[in-house]
Amino acid sequence: MTRRPLACVILAAGKGTRMKSDLPKVLHRVAGRPMVGHVLATVAALEPERVAVVVGPGMDDVAAAVAPAPTAVQRQQQGTADAVRAGLSLLGGFDGNVVVLYGDTPLVTPATLDTMTAALNGPDAPAVVVLGMRPANPHGYGRLILNADGGLDRIVEQLDATPEERAVTLCNAGLMAFDGARMGEIIGRIGNSNAKGEYYLTDAVEIARGLGMACAVVTVDDTSEVLGVNSRAELAEVERILQNRLRTAAMINGATLADPQTVYFSHDTVLGRDVVVGQHVVFSPGVTIGDRVEIKPFCHFEKVTVADGATIGPYARLRPGAEIGPDAHIGNFVEIKNARIEAGAKVNHLTYIGDARVGARANIGAGTITCNYDGYFKHTTDIGAGAFIGSNTALVAPVTVGDGAIVGAGSTITGDVPADAMAVARGRQATLPGWAARFRAQKQDDKSRKA
Ligand code: UD1
Ligand code: CA
Repeated sequence: MTRRPLACVILAAGKGTRMKSDLPKVLHRVAGRPMVGHVLATVAALEPERVAVVVGPGMDDVAAAVAPAPTAVQRQQQGTADAVRAGLSLLGGFDGNVVVLYGDTPLVTPATLDTMTAALNGPDAPAVVVLGMRPANPHGYGRLILNADGGLDRIVEQLDATPEERAVTLCNAGLMAFDGARMGEIIGRIGNSNAKGEYYLTDAVEIARGLGMACAVVTVDDTSEVLGVNSRAELAEVERILQNRLRTAAMINGATLADPQTVYFSHDTVLGRDVVVGQHVVFSPGVTIGDRVEIKPFCHFEKVTVADGATIGPYARLRPGAEIGPDAHIGNFVEIKNARIEAGAKVNHLTYIGDARVGARANIGAGTITCNYDGYFKHTTDIGAGAFIGSNTALVAPVTVGDGAIVGAGSTITGDVPADAMAVARGRQATLPGWAARFRAQKQDDKSRKA
Protein backbone atom coordinates (compact mmCIF):
# COMPACT_ATOMS: atom_id res chain seq x y z
CA MET A 1 0.00 0.00 0.00
CA THR A 2 1.50 3.33 -1.00
CA ARG A 3 1.08 5.98 1.66
CA ARG A 4 0.76 9.64 0.89
CA PRO A 5 3.32 11.85 2.60
CA LEU A 6 2.37 12.89 6.12
CA ALA A 7 2.05 16.20 7.97
CA CYS A 8 1.15 16.55 11.66
CA VAL A 9 -0.54 19.46 13.39
CA ILE A 10 -0.15 19.51 17.17
CA LEU A 11 -2.56 21.72 19.13
CA ALA A 12 -0.92 23.26 22.17
CA ALA A 13 -2.57 26.64 22.58
CA GLY A 14 -4.45 25.72 25.76
CA LYS A 15 -3.28 27.58 28.85
CA GLY A 16 -4.14 24.69 31.12
CA THR A 17 -5.83 26.82 33.77
CA ARG A 18 -6.59 23.79 35.92
CA MET A 19 -2.90 22.98 36.27
CA LYS A 20 -2.61 26.17 38.38
CA SER A 21 0.88 26.70 37.01
CA ASP A 22 3.10 29.41 35.58
CA LEU A 23 4.32 26.83 33.06
CA PRO A 24 2.24 26.21 29.90
CA LYS A 25 0.49 22.88 30.27
CA VAL A 26 2.29 21.05 27.47
CA LEU A 27 5.69 21.79 29.07
CA HIS A 28 4.88 19.83 32.20
CA ARG A 29 7.10 16.77 32.19
CA VAL A 30 6.26 13.10 31.99
CA ALA A 31 9.17 10.65 32.43
CA GLY A 32 11.52 13.63 32.32
CA ARG A 33 10.29 15.12 29.05
CA PRO A 34 7.66 17.81 28.36
CA MET A 35 4.34 16.32 27.23
CA VAL A 36 4.59 17.99 23.84
CA GLY A 37 8.04 16.40 23.43
CA HIS A 38 6.42 12.98 23.73
CA VAL A 39 3.92 13.88 21.02
CA LEU A 40 6.75 15.11 18.77
CA ALA A 41 8.70 11.89 19.37
CA THR A 42 5.64 9.78 18.54
CA VAL A 43 4.96 11.58 15.27
CA ALA A 44 8.68 11.45 14.40
CA ALA A 45 8.40 7.65 14.33
CA LEU A 46 6.11 8.04 11.30
CA GLU A 47 8.68 10.23 9.50
CA PRO A 48 6.32 13.09 8.65
CA GLU A 49 7.33 15.56 5.97
CA ARG A 50 5.99 18.46 7.98
CA VAL A 51 5.14 19.12 11.62
CA ALA A 52 3.38 22.29 12.80
CA VAL A 53 2.63 23.24 16.41
CA VAL A 54 -0.12 25.67 17.37
CA VAL A 55 0.61 27.75 20.47
CA GLY A 56 -1.11 30.57 22.32
CA PRO A 57 0.11 34.17 22.46
CA GLY A 58 3.28 34.62 24.51
CA MET A 59 4.15 30.93 24.59
CA ASP A 60 7.72 31.50 23.44
CA ASP A 61 8.92 28.78 25.80
CA VAL A 62 6.72 26.23 24.02
CA ALA A 63 8.02 27.43 20.65
CA ALA A 64 11.59 26.99 21.91
CA ALA A 65 10.81 23.52 23.27
CA VAL A 66 9.35 22.24 20.00
CA ALA A 67 11.98 23.80 17.69
CA PRO A 68 12.87 23.10 14.94
CA ALA A 69 9.16 22.37 14.36
CA PRO A 70 7.58 25.69 13.37
CA THR A 71 4.84 27.23 15.48
CA ALA A 72 1.75 29.22 14.56
CA VAL A 73 0.12 31.46 17.14
CA GLN A 74 -3.62 31.11 17.65
CA ARG A 75 -4.51 34.66 18.76
CA GLN A 76 -7.73 33.79 20.57
CA GLN A 77 -8.90 30.38 21.68
CA GLN A 78 -11.90 30.05 19.47
CA GLY A 79 -11.99 26.27 19.33
CA THR A 80 -10.16 23.30 17.92
CA ALA A 81 -11.05 24.07 14.27
CA ASP A 82 -9.73 27.60 14.67
CA ALA A 83 -6.50 26.17 16.10
CA VAL A 84 -6.17 23.75 13.18
CA ARG A 85 -6.69 26.64 10.76
CA ALA A 86 -3.72 28.39 12.39
CA GLY A 87 -1.68 25.21 11.98
CA LEU A 88 -2.64 24.80 8.32
CA SER A 89 -1.25 28.27 7.61
CA LEU A 90 2.18 26.71 8.15
CA LEU A 91 1.58 23.78 5.82
CA GLY A 92 1.02 25.82 2.64
CA GLY A 93 -1.51 23.66 0.80
CA PHE A 94 0.07 20.32 1.79
CA ASP A 95 -1.94 17.63 0.01
CA GLY A 96 -0.73 14.43 1.69
CA ASN A 97 -2.25 13.01 4.86
CA VAL A 98 -2.65 15.38 7.80
CA VAL A 99 -3.01 14.13 11.38
CA VAL A 100 -4.23 16.46 14.12
CA LEU A 101 -3.00 15.70 17.66
CA TYR A 102 -3.20 17.38 21.05
CA GLY A 103 -0.04 18.47 22.88
CA ASP A 104 -1.61 17.48 26.20
CA THR A 105 -2.27 13.86 25.16
CA PRO A 106 1.21 12.34 25.31
CA LEU A 107 0.56 8.59 25.44
CA VAL A 108 -0.72 7.99 21.91
CA THR A 109 1.41 5.42 20.06
CA PRO A 110 2.83 5.48 16.52
CA ALA A 111 0.83 2.29 15.82
CA THR A 112 -2.46 4.10 16.45
CA LEU A 113 -1.46 7.01 14.20
CA ASP A 114 -0.43 4.50 11.57
CA THR A 115 -3.81 2.76 11.72
CA MET A 116 -5.52 6.12 11.25
CA THR A 117 -3.51 7.14 8.20
CA ALA A 118 -3.92 3.64 6.76
CA ALA A 119 -7.70 4.10 7.04
CA LEU A 120 -7.45 7.18 4.80
CA ASN A 121 -6.42 4.76 2.05
CA GLY A 122 -9.52 2.63 2.78
CA PRO A 123 -11.98 1.45 0.11
CA ASP A 124 -14.23 4.54 0.02
CA ALA A 125 -11.26 6.93 0.35
CA PRO A 126 -12.50 8.81 3.40
CA ALA A 127 -11.66 12.49 3.69
CA VAL A 128 -11.71 12.31 7.49
CA VAL A 129 -10.73 9.52 9.89
CA VAL A 130 -11.68 9.97 13.54
CA LEU A 131 -10.13 8.07 16.43
CA GLY A 132 -12.99 6.56 18.41
CA MET A 133 -13.00 4.99 21.88
CA ARG A 134 -15.41 3.56 24.42
CA PRO A 135 -14.42 5.11 27.75
CA ALA A 136 -15.85 3.87 31.04
CA ASN A 137 -17.47 7.27 31.46
CA PRO A 138 -18.32 9.05 28.19
CA HIS A 139 -19.32 12.29 29.92
CA GLY A 140 -17.71 15.34 28.34
CA TYR A 141 -16.60 13.68 25.12
CA GLY A 142 -17.98 14.24 21.64
CA ARG A 143 -20.21 11.31 20.55
CA LEU A 144 -19.72 9.58 17.21
CA ILE A 145 -23.03 9.23 15.36
CA LEU A 146 -22.98 6.40 12.83
CA ASN A 147 -25.36 5.85 9.92
CA ALA A 148 -27.19 2.62 9.06
CA ASP A 149 -24.20 1.31 7.09
CA GLY A 150 -21.89 1.84 10.05
CA GLY A 151 -20.24 4.86 8.41
CA LEU A 152 -19.56 8.01 10.43
CA ASP A 153 -22.17 10.74 9.88
CA ARG A 154 -21.31 13.40 12.41
CA ILE A 155 -19.87 14.16 15.85
CA VAL A 156 -21.97 15.88 18.46
CA GLU A 157 -20.34 17.54 21.45
CA GLN A 158 -21.65 16.74 24.93
CA LEU A 159 -23.14 20.20 25.40
CA ASP A 160 -24.99 20.10 22.08
CA ALA A 161 -26.17 16.48 22.31
CA THR A 162 -29.77 15.31 22.81
CA PRO A 163 -30.41 12.73 25.57
CA GLU A 164 -30.47 9.96 22.92
CA GLU A 165 -27.13 11.14 21.52
CA ARG A 166 -25.64 11.30 25.01
CA ALA A 167 -26.55 7.62 25.41
CA VAL A 168 -24.09 6.78 22.61
CA THR A 169 -20.96 5.19 24.10
CA LEU A 170 -18.66 5.54 21.08
CA CYS A 171 -16.74 8.76 21.71
CA ASN A 172 -14.30 11.03 19.95
CA ALA A 173 -10.83 10.44 21.38
CA GLY A 174 -9.75 13.74 19.82
CA LEU A 175 -7.23 12.69 17.19
CA MET A 176 -8.30 13.12 13.58
CA ALA A 177 -6.68 12.38 10.23
CA PHE A 178 -7.50 14.18 6.99
CA ASP A 179 -6.86 13.89 3.32
CA GLY A 180 -4.88 17.13 3.01
CA ALA A 181 -6.15 17.78 -0.51
CA ARG A 182 -9.73 18.10 0.79
CA MET A 183 -8.97 19.36 4.30
CA GLY A 184 -8.74 23.10 3.51
CA GLU A 185 -12.18 23.15 1.98
CA ILE A 186 -13.74 21.27 4.90
CA ILE A 187 -12.09 23.32 7.65
CA GLY A 188 -12.93 26.56 5.82
CA ARG A 189 -16.64 25.77 6.12
CA ILE A 190 -16.69 25.17 9.88
CA GLY A 191 -18.79 27.77 11.72
CA ASN A 192 -19.41 28.47 15.38
CA SER A 193 -23.16 28.22 15.88
CA ASN A 194 -23.17 25.81 18.83
CA ALA A 195 -23.52 25.78 22.60
CA LYS A 196 -20.00 27.10 23.21
CA GLY A 197 -19.86 29.50 20.25
CA GLU A 198 -16.59 27.82 19.24
CA TYR A 199 -15.25 26.52 15.96
CA TYR A 200 -15.44 22.77 16.51
CA LEU A 201 -13.02 20.60 14.56
CA THR A 202 -15.51 17.80 15.04
CA ASP A 203 -17.93 19.57 12.63
CA ALA A 204 -15.54 18.49 9.86
CA VAL A 205 -17.35 15.16 9.71
CA GLU A 206 -20.83 16.52 9.01
CA ILE A 207 -19.42 19.01 6.50
CA ALA A 208 -17.45 16.34 4.64
CA ARG A 209 -20.57 14.13 4.49
CA GLY A 210 -22.55 17.08 3.11
CA LEU A 211 -19.92 17.41 0.36
CA GLY A 212 -20.46 13.74 -0.49
CA MET A 213 -17.21 12.55 1.09
CA ALA A 214 -16.88 9.45 3.25
CA CYS A 215 -15.70 9.57 6.89
CA ALA A 216 -14.39 6.66 8.90
CA VAL A 217 -13.74 5.67 12.52
CA VAL A 218 -10.76 3.78 13.86
CA THR A 219 -11.19 2.66 17.47
CA VAL A 220 -8.43 2.56 20.03
CA ASP A 221 -8.83 -0.34 22.48
CA ASP A 222 -6.53 1.00 25.16
CA THR A 223 -8.21 4.24 26.20
CA SER A 224 -5.19 5.16 28.34
CA GLU A 225 -3.46 6.08 25.06
CA VAL A 226 -5.74 9.06 24.63
CA LEU A 227 -5.79 10.24 28.22
CA GLY A 228 -5.53 14.04 28.13
CA VAL A 229 -3.93 16.00 30.94
CA ASN A 230 -5.94 18.85 32.43
CA SER A 231 -4.86 18.68 36.08
CA ARG A 232 -1.93 17.64 38.23
CA ALA A 233 -3.80 14.46 39.17
CA GLU A 234 -4.12 13.54 35.48
CA LEU A 235 -0.44 14.36 35.01
CA ALA A 236 0.40 11.86 37.76
CA GLU A 237 -1.88 9.27 36.16
CA VAL A 238 -0.18 9.69 32.77
CA GLU A 239 3.21 9.40 34.51
CA ARG A 240 2.08 6.16 36.15
CA ILE A 241 0.96 4.67 32.83
CA LEU A 242 4.15 5.71 31.06
CA GLN A 243 6.34 4.32 33.87
CA ASN A 244 4.59 0.99 33.48
CA ARG A 245 5.22 1.04 29.74
CA LEU A 246 8.90 1.84 30.30
CA ARG A 247 9.24 -0.96 32.88
CA THR A 248 7.69 -3.45 30.50
CA ALA A 249 9.94 -2.28 27.66
CA ALA A 250 13.05 -2.61 29.87
CA MET A 251 12.14 -6.20 30.73
CA ILE A 252 11.30 -7.06 27.11
CA ASN A 253 14.74 -5.74 26.17
CA GLY A 254 16.49 -8.08 28.60
CA ALA A 255 16.77 -6.32 31.96
CA THR A 256 15.69 -7.87 35.26
CA LEU A 257 13.75 -5.53 37.53
CA ALA A 258 13.58 -6.99 41.04
CA ASP A 259 10.40 -5.04 41.80
CA PRO A 260 9.29 -3.16 38.66
CA GLN A 261 6.85 -0.85 40.46
CA THR A 262 9.72 0.69 42.45
CA VAL A 263 11.98 1.46 39.49
CA TYR A 264 11.44 4.84 37.80
CA PHE A 265 12.69 5.56 34.29
CA SER A 266 13.15 8.58 32.06
CA HIS A 267 11.94 8.54 28.48
CA ASP A 268 15.54 8.12 27.29
CA THR A 269 16.96 5.60 29.78
CA VAL A 270 19.05 2.97 27.97
CA LEU A 271 19.72 -0.36 29.70
CA GLY A 272 21.98 -3.03 28.22
CA ARG A 273 21.38 -6.75 28.20
CA ASP A 274 21.30 -8.70 31.44
CA VAL A 275 21.24 -5.60 33.58
CA VAL A 276 19.80 -6.32 37.02
CA VAL A 277 18.06 -3.42 38.73
CA GLY A 278 17.27 -3.73 42.43
CA GLN A 279 14.36 -2.17 44.27
CA HIS A 280 13.87 1.60 44.53
CA VAL A 281 16.10 2.89 41.75
CA VAL A 282 15.48 6.19 39.94
CA PHE A 283 16.82 7.08 36.50
CA SER A 284 16.68 10.79 35.70
CA PRO A 285 17.27 11.82 32.06
CA GLY A 286 20.46 11.07 30.16
CA VAL A 287 21.41 7.65 31.54
CA THR A 288 23.02 4.80 29.59
CA ILE A 289 23.79 1.52 31.34
CA GLY A 290 25.94 -1.16 29.65
CA ASP A 291 25.52 -4.94 29.59
CA ARG A 292 25.62 -7.11 32.74
CA VAL A 293 25.60 -4.13 35.10
CA GLU A 294 24.22 -4.84 38.56
CA ILE A 295 22.41 -1.97 40.22
CA LYS A 296 21.65 -2.71 43.85
CA PRO A 297 18.70 -1.08 45.65
CA PHE A 298 18.23 2.64 46.35
CA CYS A 299 20.38 4.29 43.67
CA HIS A 300 19.86 7.53 41.76
CA PHE A 301 21.30 8.28 38.31
CA GLU A 302 21.31 11.45 36.23
CA LYS A 303 23.29 12.13 32.99
CA VAL A 304 25.56 9.16 33.58
CA THR A 305 27.10 6.34 31.58
CA VAL A 306 27.95 3.01 33.15
CA ALA A 307 30.06 0.53 31.18
CA ASP A 308 29.61 -3.25 30.95
CA GLY A 309 29.97 -5.35 34.06
CA ALA A 310 30.04 -2.55 36.63
CA THR A 311 28.39 -2.93 40.05
CA ILE A 312 26.60 0.04 41.57
CA GLY A 313 25.12 0.57 45.02
CA PRO A 314 23.22 -0.01 47.16
CA TYR A 315 22.61 3.66 48.01
CA ALA A 316 24.81 5.24 45.33
CA ARG A 317 24.20 8.63 43.76
CA LEU A 318 25.65 9.10 40.29
CA ARG A 319 25.37 12.73 39.22
CA PRO A 320 25.82 14.47 35.84
CA GLY A 321 29.05 13.65 34.07
CA ALA A 322 29.81 10.45 35.97
CA GLU A 323 31.36 7.86 33.67
CA ILE A 324 31.75 4.48 35.28
CA GLY A 325 34.17 2.16 33.47
CA PRO A 326 33.87 -1.56 32.82
CA ASP A 327 33.77 -3.79 35.90
CA ALA A 328 34.19 -0.83 38.25
CA HIS A 329 32.58 -1.05 41.71
CA ILE A 330 30.68 1.84 43.22
CA GLY A 331 29.41 1.03 46.68
CA ASN A 332 27.14 2.37 49.39
CA PHE A 333 26.80 6.06 50.21
CA VAL A 334 29.08 7.04 47.35
CA GLU A 335 28.45 10.19 45.31
CA ILE A 336 30.17 10.65 41.95
CA LYS A 337 29.90 13.83 39.91
CA ASN A 338 31.66 14.79 36.67
CA ALA A 339 34.27 12.09 37.11
CA ARG A 340 35.61 9.14 35.17
CA ILE A 341 36.07 5.95 37.15
CA GLU A 342 38.19 3.71 34.93
CA ALA A 343 38.06 -0.05 34.39
CA GLY A 344 37.96 -2.16 37.53
CA ALA A 345 38.45 0.74 39.95
CA LYS A 346 36.73 0.46 43.33
CA VAL A 347 35.01 3.26 45.22
CA ASN A 348 33.11 1.26 47.75
CA HIS A 349 32.12 3.23 50.83
CA LEU A 350 31.07 6.69 52.02
CA THR A 351 32.93 8.74 49.41
CA TYR A 352 32.58 11.86 47.29
CA ILE A 353 34.42 11.94 43.96
CA GLY A 354 33.82 15.12 41.94
CA ASP A 355 35.71 16.62 38.97
CA ALA A 356 38.14 13.75 38.90
CA ARG A 357 39.64 10.77 37.15
CA VAL A 358 40.19 7.54 39.03
CA GLY A 359 42.56 5.31 37.05
CA ALA A 360 42.03 1.66 36.26
CA ARG A 361 42.03 -0.71 39.27
CA ALA A 362 42.66 2.13 41.73
CA ASN A 363 41.18 1.57 45.18
CA ILE A 364 39.55 4.46 46.99
CA GLY A 365 39.24 3.88 50.71
CA ALA A 366 36.15 4.54 52.80
CA GLY A 367 35.41 8.18 53.54
CA THR A 368 37.62 9.65 50.81
CA ILE A 369 36.64 13.14 49.66
CA THR A 370 37.83 15.14 46.67
CA CYS A 371 37.79 18.75 47.87
CA ASN A 372 36.98 20.08 44.41
CA TYR A 373 35.56 23.51 45.24
CA ASP A 374 37.31 26.45 46.87
CA GLY A 375 34.18 28.56 47.10
CA TYR A 376 34.92 30.18 43.73
CA PHE A 377 36.24 27.60 41.27
CA LYS A 378 36.09 23.86 40.69
CA HIS A 379 39.42 22.01 40.49
CA THR A 380 40.30 18.54 39.31
CA THR A 381 41.80 15.54 41.03
CA ASP A 382 43.69 12.95 39.00
CA ILE A 383 44.32 9.54 40.52
CA GLY A 384 46.52 7.15 38.55
CA ALA A 385 45.99 3.52 37.67
CA GLY A 386 46.45 1.12 40.55
CA ALA A 387 46.76 3.88 43.16
CA PHE A 388 45.58 3.15 46.69
CA ILE A 389 43.94 5.94 48.66
CA GLY A 390 43.69 5.15 52.38
CA SER A 391 40.45 5.65 54.25
CA ASN A 392 39.32 9.10 55.32
CA THR A 393 41.59 10.96 52.92
CA ALA A 394 40.86 14.51 51.76
CA LEU A 395 42.32 15.21 48.31
CA VAL A 396 42.53 19.00 48.00
CA ALA A 397 42.26 19.78 44.30
CA PRO A 398 43.96 20.57 42.04
CA VAL A 399 46.06 17.55 42.90
CA THR A 400 47.53 14.48 41.20
CA VAL A 401 48.25 11.06 42.64
CA GLY A 402 50.46 9.06 40.30
CA ASP A 403 50.03 5.49 39.07
CA GLY A 404 50.59 2.92 41.80
CA ALA A 405 51.03 5.51 44.57
CA ILE A 406 49.77 4.88 48.10
CA VAL A 407 48.20 7.52 50.32
CA GLY A 408 48.08 6.75 54.03
CA ALA A 409 44.71 6.74 55.80
CA GLY A 410 43.52 10.01 57.28
CA SER A 411 45.70 12.15 55.03
CA THR A 412 44.89 15.62 53.77
CA ILE A 413 46.72 15.65 50.46
CA THR A 414 47.54 19.12 49.14
CA GLY A 415 50.59 18.32 47.02
CA ASP A 416 51.06 15.98 44.08
CA VAL A 417 52.12 12.41 44.86
CA PRO A 418 54.49 10.87 42.27
CA ALA A 419 53.88 7.44 40.78
CA ASP A 420 54.72 4.55 43.14
CA ALA A 421 55.40 6.95 46.06
CA MET A 422 53.82 6.76 49.48
CA ALA A 423 52.36 9.94 50.97
CA VAL A 424 51.00 10.41 54.45
CA ALA A 425 49.85 13.75 55.81
CA ARG A 426 48.68 13.60 59.40
CA GLY A 427 50.05 14.06 62.92
CA ARG A 428 52.56 11.43 63.98
CA GLN A 429 51.25 8.94 66.53
CA ALA A 430 52.46 9.19 70.17
CA THR A 431 52.12 6.00 72.26
CA LEU A 432 52.61 6.19 76.03
CA PRO A 433 52.79 2.71 77.65
CA GLY A 434 50.67 2.33 80.81
CA TRP A 435 49.31 5.86 80.59
CA ALA A 436 45.63 4.88 80.49
CA ALA A 437 45.85 2.64 83.56
CA ARG A 438 47.64 5.38 85.53
CA PHE A 439 45.02 7.89 84.45
CA ARG A 440 42.13 5.71 85.65
CA ALA A 441 43.80 5.00 88.99
CA GLN A 442 44.39 8.69 89.61
CA LYS A 443 40.79 9.63 88.78
CA GLN A 444 39.37 6.84 90.98
CA ASP A 445 41.50 8.11 93.85
CA ASP A 446 40.29 11.73 93.37
CA LYS A 447 36.68 10.57 93.37
CA SER A 448 36.86 8.52 96.64
CA ARG A 449 38.56 11.44 98.44
CA LYS A 450 35.65 13.75 97.49
CA ALA A 451 32.94 11.32 98.74
C1 UD1 B 1 -12.38 17.79 22.17
C2 UD1 B 1 -13.37 17.34 21.10
C3 UD1 B 1 -14.26 16.24 21.67
C4 UD1 B 1 -13.40 15.09 22.15
C5 UD1 B 1 -12.36 15.58 23.16
C6 UD1 B 1 -11.38 14.48 23.47
C7 UD1 B 1 -13.84 19.36 19.77
C8 UD1 B 1 -14.78 20.43 19.50
N1 UD1 B 1 -14.19 18.49 20.71
O1 UD1 B 1 -13.16 18.35 23.21
O2 UD1 B 1 -15.15 15.77 20.67
O3 UD1 B 1 -14.20 14.08 22.72
O4 UD1 B 1 -11.60 16.68 22.61
O5 UD1 B 1 -10.53 14.88 24.49
O6 UD1 B 1 -12.79 19.29 19.13
N2 UD1 B 1 -7.10 23.79 21.73
C9 UD1 B 1 -6.42 24.81 21.11
N3 UD1 B 1 -7.09 25.92 20.76
C10 UD1 B 1 -8.43 26.08 20.96
C11 UD1 B 1 -9.12 25.04 21.60
C12 UD1 B 1 -8.43 23.90 21.97
O7 UD1 B 1 -5.21 24.70 20.90
O8 UD1 B 1 -8.96 27.12 20.62
C13 UD1 B 1 -6.38 22.59 22.13
C14 UD1 B 1 -6.39 22.41 23.63
O9 UD1 B 1 -5.23 22.99 24.21
C15 UD1 B 1 -6.41 20.91 23.80
C16 UD1 B 1 -7.11 20.41 22.55
O10 UD1 B 1 -7.05 21.46 21.61
O11 UD1 B 1 -5.11 20.37 23.81
C17 UD1 B 1 -8.54 20.00 22.82
O12 UD1 B 1 -9.29 21.10 23.27
P1 UD1 B 1 -10.36 20.99 24.41
O13 UD1 B 1 -10.95 22.32 24.64
O14 UD1 B 1 -9.79 20.27 25.58
O15 UD1 B 1 -11.45 20.06 23.71
P2 UD1 B 1 -12.57 19.24 24.42
O16 UD1 B 1 -13.66 20.14 24.85
O17 UD1 B 1 -11.97 18.36 25.43
CA1 CA C 1 -10.00 18.21 26.67
